[in-house]
Amino acid sequence: MKTIKIAVIPGDGIGQEVVPPAMDVLNTVAEVHGGLKFGFTEFPWNCEYYVKNGIMMPDDGLKALSNFDAVFLGAVGNPELVPDHISLWGLLIKIRREFQQVINIRPAKYFKGLQSPLLNPNDFDLIVVRENSEGEYSEIGGRIHQGEDEITIQNAVFTRKGVERAMRYAFELAMKRKGHVTSATKSNGIFHSMPYWDSVFNEIKDDYPNIATASYHIDALTAFFVSRPQIFDVIVASNLFGDILTDVGGAIMGSIGIAPAANINLNGKFPSMFEPVHGSAPDICGKGIANPVGQIWTAKLMLDHFGEIEMGNTLLDVIEGVIRDGISTPDIGGKCKTVEVSEEICRRLKTI
Ligand code: NAD
Ligand code: IPM
Ligand code: MN
Repeated sequence: MKTIKIAVIPGDGIGQEVVPPAMDVLNTVAEVHGGLKFGFTEFPWNCEYYVKNGIMMPDDGLKALSNFDAVFLGAVGNPELVPDHISLWGLLIKIRREFQQVINIRPAKYFKGLQSPLLNPNDFDLIVVRENSEGEYSEIGGRIHQGEDEITIQNAVFTRKGVERAMRYAFELAMKRKGHVTSATKSNGIFHSMPYWDSVFNEIKDDYPNIATASYHIDALTAFFVSRPQIFDVIVASNLFGDILTDVGGAIMGSIGIAPAANINLNGKFPSMFEPVHGSAPDICGKGIANPVGQIWTAKLMLDHFGEIEMGNTLLDVIEGVIRDGISTPDIGGKCKTVEVSEEICRRLKTI
């Protein structure tokens, strides 16, 4: 029996509403599979934990997580209780950094029967490879003047290793897909980092002569996500550009509530972490109507990560079927509660 040990962090807000249903789905996957078992251990780290303890996770928290095969996280953030930069840098970003989860993969695709806000959403299928450890997410900088001439500086960091790693990951991924990589740049306006980004991209692409490429400024690229998402296969983007693009990716599918993500550790030294694109959604929290599909599709990415490709594809087929049949939450036009969607997914999995 293959056993996968998973550290579960439901986190804040709707994270607590979508993680348990996704665990039910994973347990059903294991039951249907027959040779697979998930061992879940839950960690109660979130903003309430911070209010009680003054920290987002215990000092030995990372050590505890490092004993697991993967981390399965809901969402972090309750700005009413704790400022976002404290909660996120104390838990989510801390895990991404310390566990060297340098790549964030975020797919978006057309779902039959799902109302997209696009006029022509037909058949787009793309993956954003988001550099996940550096770029615009940096602690370097600070306030250097007070008063009338107040100045705050935020430095962005682009290392050769970080940029090249993300780009090579994107090219390798494209080789297994449609053979196309788009670079998200902004070398017309950002003076140092983005011309550098372009030069590395131009160099790396020569190593992949069979892969077609394109490069668009992030502003135009974001508009293309809306006007012609079908032109994309794999998109490689810096940390912030990738963050913004993938909320658009969720929106063009129909809702950010279905968008999945995987934070990948490439060197095998630490677990990877699986968490959807969306946040804790304070505006709908407590109503039982959060869409669980983002968390469940994220579980599919976790299955892929552990080599359970066939099972992962089956799960995605079931998700698509459930959506096509209108068994869905209000964000995509349905009337169902969170658990009604996940229960139907479990029921259908059992009939396979
Ligand atoms: P958000 O993603 O939480 O919500 C944006 C909008 O999408 C809201 O209207 C929300 O109701 C809707 N939405 C999100 N997920 C949904 C779902 N599963 N089903 C239905 N609707 C859904 O973004 P925000 O409002 O900017 O952030 C709220 C909090 O979450 C903040 O504290 C933020 O920092 C945090 N956040 C955390 C993560 C993470 O942990 N990975 C990601 C993004 C935001
Ligand atoms: C995401 C989130 C995080 C990010 C925030 C909450 C720090 O928006 O995972 O998309 O920007 O990476
Ligand atoms: Mn985001």
